[in-house]
Amino acid sequence: MAAENTSFARRSLLFMPGDSLRKIEKAANWEVDTLIMDLEDGVAQNRKLEARATVAEALDKFQYGRRERLVRLNHISTGMVADEIAATVGGRPDGYIMPKAEIAQDLHTVDVMLSVAERDQGLPPQSLRLFVMIETARGVMNLREIAGATPRLEGLIFGAEDLAGDVGSIRTKAAWEVFYARSAVVTAAAAFRLQSFDMIYADFNDPAGLEEESRFARQLGFTGKTCIHPNQTPIVNRAFSPSPEEVERARRLVAAFDEQQAAGAGAFTFDGKMVDMPMLVAARKVLARAGTA
Ligand code: COA
Ligand code: MG
Repeated sequence: MAAENTSFARRSLLFMPGDSLRKIEKAANWEVDTLIMDLEDGVAQNRKLEARATVAEALDKFQYGRRERLVRLNHISTGMVADEIAATVGGRPDGYIMPKAEIAQDLHTVDVMLSVAERDQGLPPQSLRLFVMIETARGVMNLREIAGATPRLEGLIFGAEDLAGDVGSIRTKAAWEVFYARSAVVTAAAAFRLQSFDMIYADFNDPAGLEEESRFARQLGFTGKTCIHPNQTPIVNRAFSPSPEEVERARRLVAAFDEQQAAGAGAFTFDGKMVDMPMLVAARKVLARAGTA
């Protein structure tokens, strides 16, 4: 199992329809950590081939600086995945996203396809990253086998809309109908030292609602959040970056902890509250995150 991937802190991941060259080109302007060029549900059924060609062209042509570039594939059962990888890998994407992951076998299949692509392109083995979407009831039930399926896997992305459709629940702003699955995703990711990304917020004209949902996602332990509109990414980036006050408090806590340990105290009072080992671990995570954000 890979060590927790803190080398690239993905806070915001922005979806864009693979058949929209304009949106993909514009993404070079946005304040975003990861671009997701979509071949799946953001593309109409009769535009799938066009989207594949557009994504290949965009990967070749456009410069995105430090932004990560991912391609979301169609579901393995469509039979399109091998061709989608073959058509786009020459543009050197950083990795691929598998939608509606449900069984480990499907990850193994894509893993092999990526190994073949790496060999054909002369890329280092295991250099293409893999992410999966957990967005069906079966995916949630099989989280353990999915999260442990392959060391190539870097993160789990939670999809609430598909899940609600699959389960028959009704989406609400409070999102309690998907809470069990959302929480299961973040926990499975942590158990396997993967990153985890929260669901999209569809109402892109509600910055306050997005901010609240992002803050809650970070409280749950998600490392980032998916977005659908460029006006969402600055809000998400801010929510997933520790504030200066948080960093300052974490620094003081770590220093106080070291002092107290040296003096032989495991638990002690800090800012009027009890502090012990778990709080130290949390404070170190804040500092690590601040270092990479
Ligand atoms: N990625 C990159 N650029 C985007 C973008 C995105 N996801 N969404 C909007 N833009 C660009 C638009 O092109 C527009 O620039 P332009 O006027 O110069 O062309 C600008 O940002 C403002 O967009 P706006 O007019 O407010 O939105 P829209 O009506 O063009 O598009 C959506 C609205 C929802 C259709 C669009 O945001 C979108 O396609 N989102 C992603 C959908 C998707 O991929 N879904 C599948 C995964 S959930
Ligand atoms: Mg989906």
